[in-house]
Amino acid sequence: MNSHNIGIIGTGYVGLVTGVCFAKLGHNVICSDVVEEKIEKLKRGESTIYEPGLEELLAETTGNGNLYFTKSNKEVVDKSDFIFICILTPEKSDGSADLSYVYNACQEIAQSMTEPKSIIIKSTLPATAVDSIRQKIRENTDIDFELLANPEFLAQGTAVRDSLEPMRVIIGADDETAAKRLRDLYTNITDDKVVLTNIPTAMLTKYASNTYLATKISFMNSIAAICEKVGADVESVAKGMGYDARIGARFLHAGIGYGGSCFPKDTKALYKMAKEIGYDFKLMDEVIKINENQRQVVVEKLRRLLGNLKGKNIAFFGLAFKPGTDDLREAPARYIMRELIKEGCSVVGYDPVITNLVTNGPNNSWEDLKDIKIYNKVCDAAKDADAIVVATEYKDFKDRLDFSKLAQRVRTKVIIDGRNVLPYEEAVKHGFIYSSIGREDV
Ligand code: UGA
Repeated sequence: MNSHNIGIIGTGYVGLVTGVCFAKLGHNVICSDVVEEKIEKLKRGESTIYEPGLEELLAETTGNGNLYFTKSNKEVVDKSDFIFICILTPEKSDGSADLSYVYNACQEIAQSMTEPKSIIIKSTLPATAVDSIRQKIRENTDIDFELLANPEFLAQGTAVRDSLEPMRVIIGADDETAAKRLRDLYTNITDDKVVLTNIPTAMLTKYASNTYLATKISFMNSIAAICEKVGADVESVAKGMGYDARIGARFLHAGIGYGGSCFPKDTKALYKMAKEIGYDFKLMDEVIKINENQRQVVVEKLRRLLGNLKGKNIAFFGLAFKPGTDDLREAPARYIMRELIKEGCSVVGYDPVITNLVTNGPNNSWEDLKDIKIYNKVCDAAKDADAIVVATEYKDFKDRLDFSKLAQRVRTKVIIDGRNVLPYEEAVKHGFIYSSIGREDV
């Protein structure tokens, strides 16, 4: 195969996985980041994120010379023909996407260019931003460039597999030749799964995909609320729906809502962008509200089962927004813990990966959780608990939990399974009251 020179600006989640996987496909990849410690760590072969399989691939691709890290964006521009912008687009206080980091990167890329380049937006950006990005680059260079959009679809915990075996590749470009040149980098996908389109379409495809999945989840959480009122079981409803290939079985799990760095941010950004261009996306507004309300469901269940919550000990099993990651961004557990602390509860946690609630960088608005004790054994976390709350859908919780031991450790035998993952027969056998989402208490 032909190997190409690829540059990655921004070595966060998307940038790092994209860079490593392009290197694995045999391309020459150079990655930069403004955070110097990150680059130092990566140069030592240590991954800066927790992602299964990534560190091994990092060792392989830096070892065979396909992957290289630098602190200099200029070096990336000099050495690459394709420059991927993988910069964060955090949520602003009004819900819109903050594009300032992307604009800064565009300016720097443009000022560093000495010959024509392909500049590819991989960050998740509203389609309305294309013109301003193009303008930002144009203002800072007279040299020709091609602007393309190539959104990423990797999910945390399966990011390496999602990148090496993608379900689809979406490429937005102004002309077909540029699109095809970018397509050729993806030697790991057949043409039937590649969509070549214009730039706004590519960008909107990303938002539409994430927000549609979020909509599925909020829809099922609404069905769960109805299930609880009529004595139905949301898990069986989801199973029955999932057999219909037109619906699909995935992302139909009711629970305490979606979290993470993508769905909460992207739902709000799409709603905001639609509003700005004159469309009131009421459905998206509801999806967001249902999700925020879903965290409160746990507090209400605890109140119903324990009465006044003041002075109660609550143990959380699972803290991250999803299994297999240490990421606490928008994790429902954090919001629920904060609510319970306000009610006068004492809160502790157990998580297979997380040891501290303020990981993933400083986030002062969560300072109130920084002293919460996090255990690495469920039995330690359960000591004297008045209730156990399951907040992350670890499928193997059932193997990790010995209910007879737990029953001896807790003060009151109450479990709120916020992700419907525990074997409730076992819990009930050992005297626990078991309450889950969208099913009757047992
Ligand atoms: C998501 C998308 O799934 C990826 O395709 C996308 O590329 C990525 O965002 C991104 O934009 O970068 P991710 O945020 O890693 O990936 O996590 P998901 O696996 O999608 O889960 C998101 C949240 O939904 C989690 O809190 C999870 O617990 C929740 N969820 C998921 C449910 O509550 N129910 C479900 O049925 C599925």
